[in-house]
Amino acid sequence: MYDTVIKGGTVVTAAEQFAADVGIVGETIAAVGHDLRGDRVIDATGLLVLPGGVDTHCHIEQLRADGTTDEESFISASASAFAGGTTTAITFSTQFKGRAIGPSLAEYQARAARGMIDYGFHQIITDPTDAVIHEEIPALIAAGIRSLKVFLTYDPLHVDDRGFLRILAAARRHGALVTVHCENYDAIGWMTEALLAAGLTGPKYHAWSRPVAVEREATMRAIALAELVDQPIQIFHVSCSEVAEEIARAQARGLKVWAETCPQYLTLTAADMDRPGFEGAKFMCSPAPREAGAAADLWAQIRRGTIDVISSDHSGYRFDGTAGKRSAGADASFRDIPNGVPGLGARMMLLFSEGVATGRISASDFVRLTAFNPAHLFGLTRKGRISPGADADIVLWDAKAQITLTNATMQHAIDYTPYEGKIVTGLPITTLRRGIIVMHNNTITAEPGSGRFIPRAAYDLIKPTGHLANNFNPSAYA
Ligand code: URP
Ligand code: ZN
Ligand code: ZN
Ligand code: ZN
Repeated sequence: MYDTVIKGGTVVTAAEQFAADVGIVGETIAAVGHDLRGDRVIDATGLLVLPGGVDTHCHIEQLRADGTTDEESFISASASAFAGGTTTAITFSTQFKGRAIGPSLAEYQARAARGMIDYGFHQIITDPTDAVIHEEIPALIAAGIRSLKVFLTYDPLHVDDRGFLRILAAARRHGALVTVHCENYDAIGWMTEALLAAGLTGPKYHAWSRPVAVEREATMRAIALAELVDQPIQIFHVSCSEVAEEIARAQARGLKVWAETCPQYLTLTAADMDRPGFEGAKFMCSPAPREAGAAADLWAQIRRGTIDVISSDHSGYRFDGTAGKRSAGADASFRDIPNGVPGLGARMMLLFSEGVATGRISASDFVRLTAFNPAHLFGLTRKGRISPGADADIVLWDAKAQITLTNATMQHAIDYTPYEGKIVTGLPITTLRRGIIVMHNNTITAEPGSGRFIPRAAYDLIKPTGHLANNFNPSAYA
């Protein structure tokens, strides 16, 4: 007898789908089988039974240097996640240049603890000083923050190649995965200067300031530097197949280079940033959405397996608001408009509709890209799968129902969605997080503060390959 049995649905794993009941004891999946009996039965007839989505790239309450954040909170972001079928997120802790990591990380931990979603952190390293490299990074890895993010662009965040190498080496010594934002800082700065001097300032010129070559060069460089150190990396937000091709080449050579893309690169285009007035700002993110046709090539890279993970890169910027898209004025140049789009609530529906409902990928591919791989690659051992021993994070999904996406259905604290009016096929009906129903028919029933920090222990996947250019390991010395 189980506490809860989900009955009569079609269980989808990363490998296959089959009719089965799921038995839950406490917070954990105890059995997947037939004719299971439970104190409580949830009828899943006609529905897919999927592992809760794992979104490993979400900016939530990300602190600015002045101590403020955007209006989106861990509570509203959790509601959005549950409404969209996501139960776990890895979010970011930022280091500010010239400052230690510890105090801001403590602030993020306090803020995240107020939410309902289960969570982990990637630590952004902006200033790899000796203290950060030799004291703070080892300490936070030991505390279960087993991934770092490096930005190769953005004024307040970017690190140079030497700093990047120091971070890669520290990750290798202490056992963490390094994620990378790949765009060439100097190229963007130079292109921006030229565009502004020519009077080309509107949102659409954001894309012109950072074309494919800017992303491709930084991706090639990140791969080469990671190869030099022999340190596994994940390339974040791959926007197009030209970049994915560089990654595929690295993978074919046996390097541990994984890749993430996001729904915006499969659904938005550069033309969206050219909408009338200031509307284009709603679609501005980095890397920029590409030309029409680029998405088809990116889908091909997803199908051939170059892309491992599809995350939202959720950003909390509102359109209006103190730090929103329009905060520098409705005629601000693209340089002064914050980058990033909301997507935590829309990610699973967009991908199911564009991927599974159209036949581009299978339902198992969908599970692999949105839940299994993100959990597996980042060491979330109890997440992303429907099998005994896993956390009972489960989504009952109607594969046939259609819905029009509106900002209200997103349930976030942001005043727009880039997907307003888009009709999608397939949506979550019920979301369970660790055995408890947290969303049903778009009503959220989770208690603030019920989300849990998930420390991530050392895992084999992110061990170095052991292949160095010479019989010399530079990470042992620098
Ligand atoms: O434009 C984006 N992606 N903003 C969020 C920060 C990042 O680069 O991941
Ligand atoms: Zn050290
Ligand atoms: Zn990034
Ligand atoms: Zn991001």
